[in-house]
Amino acid sequence: VQSEAATTLEEVMDLRAFFGQSRVLIVAGKGGVGKTTVTAALAHLASSAGLSVLVIELEGREGLNVAFGQEGPLDYAESVLRAAGAAPEDAEDDSAVPAGSVRARTITPDDALLEYLADHGLGRVSKRLMATGIVDLVAGAIPGIRDILVLGKVKQIERNRLADVVLVDAPATGHTLTFLSSASGLLDAARGGPIRSQAADVVDLLADPARCQVVLVTLPEEMPVNEVVDAAFALEDRVGVALGPIIVNGCFPSFAAGETSGAQAGAQAGLALSADVVRALDDARRFRLVRQRLQEEQLARLAQQLPLDQLRIPYLFAPTIGPAEIDELCDALAAGIHELRHPAEAAS
Ligand SMILES: Nc1ncnc2c1ncn2[C@@H]1O[C@H](COP(=O)(O)OP(=O)(O)OP(=O)(O)O)[C@@H](O)[C@H]1O
Ligand SMILES: [Mg+2]
Repeated sequence: VQSEAATTLEEVMDLRAFFGQSRVLIVAGKGGVGKTTVTAALAHLASSAGLSVLVIELEGREGLNVAFGQEGPLDYAESVLRAAGAAPEDAEDDSAVPAGSVRARTITPDDALLEYLADHGLGRVSKRLMATGIVDLVAGAIPGIRDILVLGKVKQIERNRLADVVLVDAPATGHTLTFLSSASGLLDAARGGPIRSQAADVVDLLADPARCQVVLVTLPEEMPVNEVVDAAFALEDRVGVALGPIIVNGCFPSFAAGETSGAQAGAQAGLALSADVVRALDDARRFRLVRQRLQEEQLARLAQQLPLDQLRIPYLFAPTIGPAEIDELCDALAAGIHELRHPAEAAS
């Protein structure tokens, strides 16, 4: 039995309030900082509070499945990563809520266009149109149309309330900016017709913080912090989308043993360590101390340059991120969310 992130009524209420702020969360950030991992953890966390979750992958890659202990890439058709279930067995009180489901799917421009055409009575010709490469043709003529097709589909999912929480695992930062600014770009360019109305709907979605927010993911390191600060300002200025808390992934745990030398550690453990081992322990200790200092500097700089809440989650020393690791990240997220919602308690 997996442990559950939300086991008390208070935790459930915190999580529901947190996820209730906006139906669509777009998880964005620099390549490789942990967007997919964080998306999986947020999905698991929201479902543990009884909310139904739909995750949207834009690149059809694996990672999300692995985090949920499953295999194979996602598809345009929904798959179930976690079934809605009974209350967790290890719940601390009987108020625990049954888990919500986590479903996942991809959205590609081609599939979104096919569906759009089918919805508008053009289903029979659409397959043939696709075979002629119409999307590439149109995409060449109208910049941003691919992004509008995808975001239009996200908007439709949000409008139809297909889940309590919709998580979008966004492409890496540079592309996310283009992706999210495509709608306002098209709105300026198109004078009328279905493309314009689709773009206008997407602009409305992005401009309403109760419907959509961007959650930026970063690492406590210099380059990722620089990039996330730039991205945050660009998203607010160019897209006008609201930003949720920054998720700082890969935080090293604070290093309590920093003052203990290798020789002292050996003596405390009653071990006769060779000179090589003592040296290796001292090297490791120095590495951790340097890493800790750099991390603290970067976290402080991030807080100073971006007036956004931070949710910090640990670096996990594991070969792959599977369900057990996602549980651990959920615990850290839940603790951070609790602190955000009850700051006085945390300070006392
Ligand atoms: N907190 C963590 N602790 C340890 N490893 C992690 C952590 N978060 C992510 N990773 C690992 O780092 C790698 C990158 O993570 P992930 O795929 O989530 O990043 P991404 O931002 O989605 O990348 P991309 O831009 O390629 O889509 C993966 O191998 C993942 O397992
Ligand atoms: Mg990814």
